[in-house]
Amino acid sequence: MAYDFAEIYDEIYQKCKNYYLLISNLVRRFASPKAKILDLGCGTGILEMYLPKDYKIVGIDNSKEMLKIAKRKNLKNAKFVLGDIRNFSLKEKFDAAICINDTLNHLTSLKDLKSFFSNVARYLKKGGIFIFDFNTLSLIKNLQKENESGWIVASETKGKILIYKKFRERNFVVWKFVYIFKTKNNILNSKEEKIVERAYDLKQIEKIMKKFGFKAIEKRKIGNYKILLVAHLYFLI
Ligand SMILES: C[S@@+](CC[C@H](N)C(=O)[O-])C[C@H]1O[C@@H](n2cnc3c(N)ncnc32)[C@H](O)[C@@H]1O
Repeated sequence: MAYDFAEIYDEIYQKCKNYYLLISNLVRRFASPKAKILDLGCGTGILEMYLPKDYKIVGIDNSKEMLKIAKRKNLKNAKFVLGDIRNFSLKEKFDAAICINDTLNHLTSLKDLKSFFSNVARYLKKGGIFIFDFNTLSLIKNLQKENESGWIVASETKGKILIYKKFRERNFVVWKFVYIFKTKNNILNSKEEKIVERAYDLKQIEKIMKKFGFKAIEKRKIGNYKILLVAHLYFLI
């Protein structure tokens, strides 16, 4: 993500406090105090602000811009590392892993999804917990129904505006973001960013989870098209 988008992401998602608190409560329920936590696709480190301070957290993201903002938060118990969640290498194992806010949907092939689950399993201790969410195919169906063509204002502060629209391509959702801002010379300018997400259905995800030793122990529907899962790593491959 480009720098401006990372800044705006941080501003918008800081408003989703309730979801981060929900995740933090789940982690507290399933992981022991002082647990080691791995946050995959940690973004700007907002979740880390809500996790108990006695956890030791490693966040991984492949965006330098997102990590720059995460590091700026100066959280003593969190380390932020540049890496790809499909293929990372660390020196330690974790008690719990987290991957939230549609990060899994950024993986747009089944091959990538398998590498991702395989890596999570590799870096979790046996009996470890994996908490993650994903957008389901009902997002695609809704988009079809809504035939959403209008632009939505996502943020409007200090003369900066972010608008976006989402549209569908087969089982992919394409989010098109346009960031409008004034230059030093007071001239209106804009930058664009496109994010492609693949929607998955629960059966697809459960099949892959099972292959890599995970079993769902809690499932929640979040809104109309998101599923939040708590999975348990019951065997090591
Ligand atoms: C929607 S954001 C979620 C951020 C964070 N989990 C949160 O809840 O605020 C998705 C994040 O996943 C990261 N990401 C996408 N694909 C990735 C990959 N293959 N490896 C590492 N990070 C990735 C993006 O850079 C972005 O920061």
